[in-house]
Amino acid sequence: MATYKLVATAAMGLESIVAREVKDLGYETTVENGKIFFEGDELAIARSNMWLRTADRVKIVMGEFNAYTFDQLFEGTKALPWETLMPVDAAFPVSGKSVKSKLYSVPDCQSIVKKAIVERMKAAYKRMSFLEESGPTYKIEVAIRNDKVTLTVDTSGAGLHKRGYRTGQGEAPLKETMAAALIKLTNWRPDRPFHDPFCGSGTIPIEAALIGQNIAPGFNREFISEEWPVIPESIWEKVRLDAEEAANYDQPLEIYGSDIDHKIIEVAKENAIEAGLGDLIQFKQMQGKDFTASSDYGVIVGNPPYGERIGEEEEVERMYRDMGEVFEQYPTWSKYLITSHPDFEDLYGKKATKKRKLFNGFIRTDYYQYFGQRPPRNTN
Ligand SMILES: C[S@@+](CC[C@H](N)C(=O)[O-])C[C@H]1O[C@@H](n2cnc3c(N)ncnc32)[C@H](O)[C@@H]1O
Repeated sequence: MATYKLVATAAMGLESIVAREVKDLGYETTVENGKIFFEGDELAIARSNMWLRTADRVKIVMGEFNAYTFDQLFEGTKALPWETLMPVDAAFPVSGKSVKSKLYSVPDCQSIVKKAIVERMKAAYKRMSFLEESGPTYKIEVAIRNDKVTLTVDTSGAGLHKRGYRTGQGEAPLKETMAAALIKLTNWRPDRPFHDPFCGSGTIPIEAALIGQNIAPGFNREFISEEWPVIPESIWEKVRLDAEEAANYDQPLEIYGSDIDHKIIEVAKENAIEAGLGDLIQFKQMQGKDFTASSDYGVIVGNPPYGERIGEEEEVERMYRDMGEVFEQYPTWSKYLITSHPDFEDLYGKKATKKRKLFNGFIRTDYYQYFGQRPPRNTN
């Protein structure tokens, strides 16, 4: 087993949630913009990919050094022990980015890094001819910021938001990682009712059900590092087996998803089935303003339309007003709504208990949080 410097990448604003998840897996973290660093072995790579609900990817940090010239970039890259990670037949495409640095030509940086690794690998594996690159893939990134080079290797493959259950989606689907983060920011517990009244393809209710039954978000997919010889198959088997054991399929859940669009409700149902959740979530075609609840102390999490499209604004504003009137008839329920609409609180008719700036993709949004009454102690 080796020890790797690892980084879980996160959408802007979600760093503290991702860091919490990494800590919950038992690793110490340091946090920078969009990056949560931790150390771990091959098991840590497999576990973090399997369990992180809110991170974008997990990468190995191969090395960090300053470079002001192409020579320094070449030598710094060549000095790293690439052969300890990659077999002789590894395929290793190199992507790049550069911000505020002397070395600003990204294509040049990529090809220099590529050449330096090829040279290192040929020397390490005593190859005179070219490397065939017919084996497992190692996606390398050279990122240069303020002349500091960071070389990483992606261990996830498809981004971690690709859980493998989304067979269909609506017009503005929420990333699964963001949906999980929205839920983690609430006070919801699996013994309380949960409702997404704008559920679209069902992302938020599905993520809630996965959290509610402690089902690993990566149970339904594969990771690029599963092909790597340095991570024995037995590690992945152990991680999958542990995930199976950790799942609490007996946890009863009261989770609802509703949407005005009956076609998208069918998509949501299919996605839930694909996620292995079968009939666990109750989906229904319904307008947001027809929300009702038969039990108390529930949680609403909603990602309504933001009214950004031409012609949509008036309708969305009316909907926000209706929503405020209806939801506030349920004072024991907590409500959490994400939108980019600048006048949301005025339209909803109440100042949020708390709000948090989040980026939904490139859209700057606020997450409006209205805390419901606390349950009496003995029912808590
Ligand atoms: C931003 S999308 C939600 C996407 C969803 N979170 C997902 O991941 O697929 C907003 C949803 O609100 C629904 N919608 C629009 N007006 C509505 C209304 N008055 N009542 C209920 N749903 C509405 C739309 O049909 C759409 O599916």
